[in-house]
Amino acid sequence: MSRSILVTGGAGYIGSHTVLQLLLGGYKAVVVDKLDNSSEIAIKRVQELAGEHGSNLTFHEIDLRDKPALEKLFASEKFEAVIHVAGLKAVGESVKKPLLYYDNNLIGMIVLLEVMAAHGCKKLVFSSSATVYGWPKVVPCTEESPISATNPYGRTKSDSTWKIILLRYFNPVGAHPSGHIGEDPRGIPNNLIPFIQQVAVGRRPALTVYGTDYKTTDGTGVRDYIHVVDLADGHIAALKKLADPSVGCEVYNLGSGKGTSVLEMVAAFEKASGKKIPLVMADRRPGDAEIVYAETEKAERELNWKAKYGIQEFCRDQWNWASKNPYGYEPQAP
Ligand code: UD1
Repeated sequence: MSRSILVTGGAGYIGSHTVLQLLLGGYKAVVVDKLDNSSEIAIKRVQELAGEHGSNLTFHEIDLRDKPALEKLFASEKFEAVIHVAGLKAVGESVKKPLLYYDNNLIGMIVLLEVMAAHGCKKLVFSSSATVYGWPKVVPCTEESPISATNPYGRTKSDSTWKIILLRYFNPVGAHPSGHIGEDPRGIPNNLIPFIQQVAVGRRPALTVYGTDYKTTDGTGVRDYIHVVDLADGHIAALKKLADPSVGCEVYNLGSGKGTSVLEMVAAFEKASGKKIPLVMADRRPGDAEIVYAETEKAERELNWKAKYGIQEFCRDQWNWASKNPYGYEPQAP
C-alpha cells in the first residue's frame, strides 16, 4: 500500500511541484488548497505528468481554518505525514494587512496542528523561508544564523514550537521541465523572475531594478535562486528524514549556496528566451537585503540532498513554461 502524505497548498507553485515528485516517488498525495492564489488546473496537470501514478492524487478544496472540514478529512484517511506549504507570501501585502497574514498563516497552522495531534499524525514538514534571516550580517546563512523577522510574513514563518522539519527556502524559481506547471502569481508579481517572465511575454513593458548601489559586483541585490524541482525533491528528502527516530525539531536551508545578482539573472533569461528585457533603474525596495545566500552543508550531510540545477536550467525551464502558458493557467488575458 502506498504511503499517504497530506500536502496543504498543493495546488500552488511549490506545492504542485512537490506533489508531482511525491507521486513519482511512489507516495499517495492528498492535497488541500483553498485556491485563493492557485488553480485546480495545476492539480489536473500534475495528475497527467504523473502518468500511471496520477490516480494516487486526490484534491479537496478546504481552507485550513475550517476545522470541521479538516477533521472530516483526517477521520476518513490516515496520513503518514503532512507537508504544510499553504500560506500567503507577499511581503508587501503582509505589511499592509498584517492581520490577514497572522489569521491565514498562523491560525491555519494551529488548526492543522490540533487536528493532526487529535488523529495521532505527528510528522510535519513545514515550508519556512530565508526571509527569517532578514538582512544577514554574515553570508552564507547557516541554520544557526540569527533570525530576524522584518515583516509580518516573516514572523508567521518563524514559529518553531513543534517537532517538525522546517525547510527554509531561499528563492524558488524555474518550472517543471515539461512546461506544464509553473508559477502563476495573481496581479502584479512581487518577485523578480515572475516579473521578468511577464516582460518577456509582453504583458509588462519593463523590469524595475530595485537598487543599483548595493555593495555587490554590479550594484544589484544578490540572492540564492533554487530550481523548484530541486526544492520539491528537498521535501521528499525531509520526509525520509522524519523516519529517523532521532529527529525532533530540525531546520534545513534549501538553497543552492550560490549568489546571483539581478542583472546576472536578467542576462541569463535574455539568453534563454532570446527576448530583450527593458530595464528601469530605481531606488532600493524597502525591506530588501543586500546579499542573501545559503550555507547548504547541513542539508547535504543530513538530508543527503543537494541542488542539481543552475541558472541556465532555471531560465530554460521558466521560459518553456512562460512561452507555453503566457497567461499562466488562464487561457488568455483576464
Ligand atoms: C522575498 C523573501 C523570501 C520569500 C519571497 C517570497 C526576503 C529577504 N526574502 O524574497 O524569503 O520567500 O520573497 O515571495 O524577505 N527585484 C527587482 N525588481 C523586481 C522584483 C525584485 O529588482 O521587480 C530584486 C529585489 O530587489 C531582490 C531580487 O530581485 O534583490 C529578488 O527579489 P524577490 O524575487 O522579490 O525575492 P526576495 O525579496 O529575495
